This record gives sequence, C-alpha cells and structure tokens, in this order.
Amino acid sequence: MLSNSLIELDRAHLVHPVASYRGHEKLGVRVMKSAKGATVTDMTGHQMIDGFAGLWCVNAGYGHESIVEAAAKQMRELPYATGYFSLGSEPAIRLASELADRSPGDLNHIYFTLGGSDAVDSTIRFIRYYYHSLGTPQKDQFISLEQGYHGSSTVGAGLTALPIFHAGFGLPFDWQHKIPSHYAYRNPVGTDPQAIIDGSVAALRAKIEEIGAERVAAFYVEPIQGSGGVLVPPDGWLKAMHKVCKDHDVLLVADEVITGFGRTGPLFACSDEDVVPDFMTTAKGLTSGYVPMGAVFMSDRVYHTIADGAGASAIGHGYTYSAHPVSAAVGLEVLRLYENGLLENGVKAGARLMAGLHSLADHPLVGDVRGRGMLAAIELVTDKQKKTPLPAAADPSRRIFDRAWDNGLVIRAFGNGVLGYAPPLCCTDSEIDAIIERTRMTLDQTLEDPDVRSAMA
Ligand SMILES: Cc1ncc(COP(=O)(O)O)c(C=O)c1O
Repeated sequence: MLSNSLIELDRAHLVHPVASYRGHEKLGVRVMKSAKGATVTDMTGHQMIDGFAGLWCVNAGYGHESIVEAAAKQMRELPYATGYFSLGSEPAIRLASELADRSPGDLNHIYFTLGGSDAVDSTIRFIRYYYHSLGTPQKDQFISLEQGYHGSSTVGAGLTALPIFHAGFGLPFDWQHKIPSHYAYRNPVGTDPQAIIDGSVAALRAKIEEIGAERVAAFYVEPIQGSGGVLVPPDGWLKAMHKVCKDHDVLLVADEVITGFGRTGPLFACSDEDVVPDFMTTAKGLTSGYVPMGAVFMSDRVYHTIADGAGASAIGHGYTYSAHPVSAAVGLEVLRLYENGLLENGVKAGARLMAGLHSLADHPLVGDVRGRGMLAAIELVTDKQKKTPLPAAADPSRRIFDRAWDNGLVIRAFGNGVLGYAPPLCCTDSEIDAIIERTRMTLDQTLEDPDVRSAMA
C-alpha cells in the first residue's frame, strides 16, 4: 500500500536521470529500502547482490557505521563552512592533503566539486584559464574518445561521446573533437594490442595535426571507458597517448570518476600505467556514494600558471558546496577504510570476479569478457564468429536487467547487450561466486528469449 502510493508520487513528481520519461511512467519506480555490505533490499523485501555498487560508486559497500559516525560528528560540530573569503574547514583541508599525498606525481592541488560532471566542467574552465595565463588563449580545442563519458553538464556533455547526451541538446560544440575508441573487441585493426595502440596514437596525432597543435588545449580520457561499455585499453595504451600529448604540448585529463578509489585495484588507475596526467577528475568512490563529492586534481605546473596568471585577481570559479565539510569528513573515513583492508580485498575479489566471468566465455551468448579488478563486462552476441550484437527487439537493457534482478543480482545492462559489473570492494568470495552463478542463470534465460532465439536461428 505504502509502496503503491510512493510509486504514484514518483510518477507524478520525480524526474529521473537518463530515463525515457514516458517509459519510466509506464514502468513505475522500484524503491530501494536498505542495504548492508554488498546486499541491497527493495521495498518489497527482495534482496540482491549489488553487482554495480549503485552507479559504480559504493566502492566501500553499504552500512559502514564508522562513515555514518564521521558524517554525524561533523554535522554536529560544523555542518557547513564556505571556502570563499579564504575560509575553510579542517576535514576539507585534511582530505585535500591526504589525496595529494596519494595522487600520482605532482597532482598536488585539489578543487572539490559535488560530483563528476562538475569536476569535468571545472577542468574545462581551468584549462581555458591556464592558456589565457600563458598568453595562448587560441589553444581552445578539446579532444576526447568516441564511446567516452565525461558527465552531463552543459559543456562537459559535449566531451561525452554517447549520442543520447547530444541529440536535442545542441551538442557537441564545434571545439569538441573525437577520435575512435580503442574498443578492442570491435576495433577495425583487430585485437592485437600493439596494433590498437598504434591505431589510437595515429588517430590522435592526425586529429591534432588536422586542428593544428597550436589550437589544441587538452585530451580527455577515461583509463577504462565505463559508460561506453567497460572498454579496456591494452597495457601501454595510456602511456602512448600521453606521449602524443606531451609531444604536441596538449594537456592530458584522466577522468577517473569511475576508475578511482580501488575500482581497478590501486587507488588510481593511472598508477597502473605509471602515467601522471595534468589533471585528474574523481568522484563516486571518493565518498563511496554516502554523500556527494568530486575532486579535480591539478598538477603543480597548471596550478602555479593559473595562480601567477591571475595575480591579485580572484579566479572566478567556485561552488557554494565546494569542499563541503561533511562530505570531506566522509571522504577521510572512506579513505581510511580503503587502506585498512578494502583495497586489498578488492584486488582479491577482482581476480575472482574476472576468473568467474572468464568461466562464462563458453556460454553461447558470450562474445567477449573484459575488465580489470572490480570493473568488468561481458558482451553478448548472437553469433560469435560475426560478433552480431543482440537484436534491439530483445530489449537487452530492460529484459536482461529484469532477469538478473529477479535472480537476486543488480547489474548494468547496456542497450547493446553489454553487461557491466562494478561490485563493492568488500565482496566476499561467496558473493562473487553468487554474482557469476546468477549471471549464468540470467544468460540461460536470455537464450530462451524468443527474440534472441529468432536472431540465432
Ligand atoms: C568517467 C565519468 N566522468 C564523469 C561522470 C559524471 O559524474 P556524475 O554523474 O557524478 O556527475 C561519470 C559518471 O558516471 C563518469 O563515469
């Protein structure tokens, strides 16, 4: 009864992110009620393993009392302090310092945001300002990768390269350019890692030359492309792309909103590649989704150039909730938990997850298995030789999501039949095994879907 009235209120009033509004009205909301560890429970009492950590964000898992305590203590003591007027709060200063200590290279300056989209958006502003400070404001062209996702802000959504974020929004802007993704499973150059790296390097060089290096400001990249379908570049890819940037005096922005905070193993995925970008954007795992927060990491060179360029003037970029003390207090506690066992467990669980997903490779629907650590995907096809995607008629994003849900598993089911995994780092062996078993069950049921069967016939 209560849940029925909530569904009606939701339908009438709550606008959902990235949804077909009409489709959602028809479907109705599923209300999440509680969660503990890696298990979530909905309003009906249905329990599931959250194989997607909310929206690839609850890296620490649910129900950590110490995080709740840290937030409550900070709220009692000082629920808000602005960073304007040279004011600040202890947790924000401490968190910035702890992050700088752990960041790759000289990414020593942290600007806090509310999430990932405004972190990306902030980098665009900082980069523009940086080149103005250097006296080269004509360096105002930005490059990113097809299948990339860099958030949903007015400007950042143009760096994103997923069609629904552009259509109807007048995006991308003409200064936002794209090069092809490394997408190993469907790369025209084949699957050889060196050929993929060479192809991407050539594409970036060609794009920079086409625009003119004197015009190119920055190249944006996710160390692993998340929302584009968990696309993992070959080892050495990021380093090779960084070299192209350095050769042409183009800034590298590593968007670690998904990959940050243990998702691929280390605290930051850039460390895997020994790459120190000029900027790094993070959010999600920074606070493990308990409260909103993002962070832009800036190199010494960028920070000092901007600072010197502005001189005594204020740099006009700020948010009321930048460096929010409650979010920062949560961030500090989450960081403590990562370093007291969670990262280690994530590495162990990630190896088990990858092995488990690879054990599904012989299933008739599984065309590709990919991932690193606790970030993974399987790509379903109806013909493994031809790599034929599941037919749109089989409505993969809805039907497969629903089957997994009914089997007690939350996954990300992309529209093209890619299934995404990003479980909390706290998962036990038996939870990882259950993710695999429930996936297998879901695949077997999908094989019985008449629309899938007819595509396979
Ligand atoms: C790589 C990347 N950048 C930016 C964002 C945007 O973050 P938010 O949804 O917190 O605004 C996301 C969100 O998924 C992301 O995956």
